[in-house]
Amino acid sequence: MKGVVLAGGLGTRLRPLTSITNKHLLPVYDQPMIFYPLQKLAEAGIKDVMLVTGGNSAGDFLRLLGDGSKFGLNTLNYAYQVNEGGIAEAIGLTKTFVGGDKFVVILGDNILEDSLAEKVAAFKNQENGARILLKKVSNPSDYGVAELEGNRVVSIEEKPERPRSSYAVIGVYMFDSFAFEIIDSLEPSARGELEVTDINNAYLKENKLHADIIDGWWADSGCSIDGLLQAGIMAKSLRREHTV
Ligand code: G1P
Repeated sequence: MKGVVLAGGLGTRLRPLTSITNKHLLPVYDQPMIFYPLQKLAEAGIKDVMLVTGGNSAGDFLRLLGDGSKFGLNTLNYAYQVNEGGIAEAIGLTKTFVGGDKFVVILGDNILEDSLAEKVAAFKNQENGARILLKKVSNPSDYGVAELEGNRVVSIEEKPERPRSSYAVIGVYMFDSFAFEIIDSLEPSARGELEVTDINNAYLKENKLHADIIDGWWADSGCSIDGLLQAGIMAKSLRREHTV
């Protein structure tokens, strides 16, 4: 199982904090944001990781993260995304690194309380296809939203004005290598990007998309200044729980 962390984008929702740096280098409590997803992968036993970034701060990631050994990784590989082509385009850049393996993608601004180990184990046991994670939120229109029938996902819409549920698709995606075939067939969305939601819907069409609802807290620390603050507060309270 390989790991992929996405750390590109312009971070426009966090300006002016991101005017001269990449949002994933900003602090979330006492660590740079990008540490959290790397720690989550390592904790789940995923030790070969590729980080995709772009823009002017790309070199800062190498200086900060090096070879990944401080996170317990075996290898930390880097890819450079030239354009702002979206999450699915960034995933496409990892094709050679992933090869025929299964892989777990984490968006670099997503911070989670719970370990991913159990979900990754479930995905390992899954013959093929994809696995996504859902969390009930009060502002679903800011996210990809899963429409559910019982426990089954029947559709996913990206940032819908009228969400069909309160379940956000969080930024952790588990795919087999069929994802790369899907990406090759995607067309840019209205905002000019290749959307991860379109990858998930392609798996759904094949009846190969599984979903788990997560229990612990989840923060999209890049969605707004308040989201970043909230993530810092949550990271602090978690650190305190673990040190008392
Ligand atoms: C992305 C995805 C969205 C997902 C969210 C989770 O949105 O497009 O489906 O719910 O991440 O963080 P973004 O925050 O990049 O706009």
